[in-house]
Amino acid sequence: MSHSYKWGILSTGKIANHFAEGLTLLDAADIHAVGSRAIGTAERFADKWSITNAYGSYDELYNDKEVDIIYIGTPHNLHYQNTMDALSAGKHVLCEKAFALNANQARNMVELARHQGLFLMDAMWNRFQPWYTKVQEIISSGVLGELIHFKADLSFKFDFDPQHRLFNPDLGGGSLLDLGVYPLTLASAFMGAPDVVHSTVHKCSTGVDDQVTMILSYPEGASSELASSSRYTSKINPALFGSEGSLEIHGMIRSGRLTLHLPGKDPEVIEVPYVGNAYQYEAQAVMDMLDQNKLEHPLMPLEETVANLQIMDLIRKNAEIKYPEEHEAVI
Ligand SMILES: NC(=O)c1ccc[n+]([C@@H]2O[C@H](COP(=O)([O-])OP(=O)(O)OC[C@H]3O[C@@H](n4cnc5c(N)ncnc54)[C@H](OP(=O)(O)O)[C@@H]3O)[C@@H](O)[C@H]2O)c1
Repeated sequence: MSHSYKWGILSTGKIANHFAEGLTLLDAADIHAVGSRAIGTAERFADKWSITNAYGSYDELYNDKEVDIIYIGTPHNLHYQNTMDALSAGKHVLCEKAFALNANQARNMVELARHQGLFLMDAMWNRFQPWYTKVQEIISSGVLGELIHFKADLSFKFDFDPQHRLFNPDLGGGSLLDLGVYPLTLASAFMGAPDVVHSTVHKCSTGVDDQVTMILSYPEGASSELASSSRYTSKINPALFGSEGSLEIHGMIRSGRLTLHLPGKDPEVIEVPYVGNAYQYEAQAVMDMLDQNKLEHPLMPLEETVANLQIMDLIRKNAEIKYPEEHEAVI
């Protein structure tokens, strides 16, 4: 029987609700407190998820001595400060994607976690779902042969709203940090670190990207073709192409099915069902590491998070996209 952990949820938005729902499935997780900018939203969230402590500020959540782990579900521009504050208060942290606005912020977050001896992880929840484990098994089995190409496009058409966090530079907007981070992170998981990154970017009137295409190439001659956009919806599944076969992943964020294509054989559909809303897997992964006194998860290493942010920094730099926080700083 594993140790039980008291979670604090920071913010009460869409994803914080999904995460709370996931936590309810875990025996070892006690949703102890929620912190919001306003007491009314905190109390409504607490009622909905049967949480004992509702706070009308984030500071009260950091200062709750009983909280072990804080989950951060705020817009991108706040991830850095929220994480630094939570770590400074002695809390382990699971921080939503995109983990930070840029690699410099992420490096500081990692440094503080290590200095404090606290767990920190990028909430790349798809890495902890059953389909991801199965893909890694298939790759390791060698059935695909040498991996040559990965293709993934995470795009959803959104109505333009300059205040929405997807378009608002003050909130760390842009399709790259919101959507493109998924194909990019999967590419790093399956293909490794690229040595060359090419990109094309389209910007919307607020100055952030609303469409990005990325071509990554790797030292041994493999490549990835990745995209994110808020201008169209893509229904194309991610796919890995190897010298001996290919693998289609039915969904990129949350999936329950893969199709293996081998020459001369019928396509093989592989069911990899998930339980609940699948957010509980990443939360369990955090607690599993804490049970083992580990401060980082081998499936989502912090150095990889920093490296992916470096790629996003480069893409934004080439497109001359800076967030307000970055105008004074060199990224
Ligand atoms: N893992 C996933 O599947 C997934 C899916 C969607 C989004 N995300 C990520 O989750 C994070 C939040 O996304 P979301 O869709 O949940 O956003 P959301 O619905 O807008 O919620 C964000 C929450 O952050 C807090 N907040 C603090 N300052 C804010 C500000 N200036 N403007 C707006 N909200 C502010 C608010 O909570 P309080 O008022 O309670 O403080 C708000 O409810 C982002 O990092 C996003 O990329 C992850």
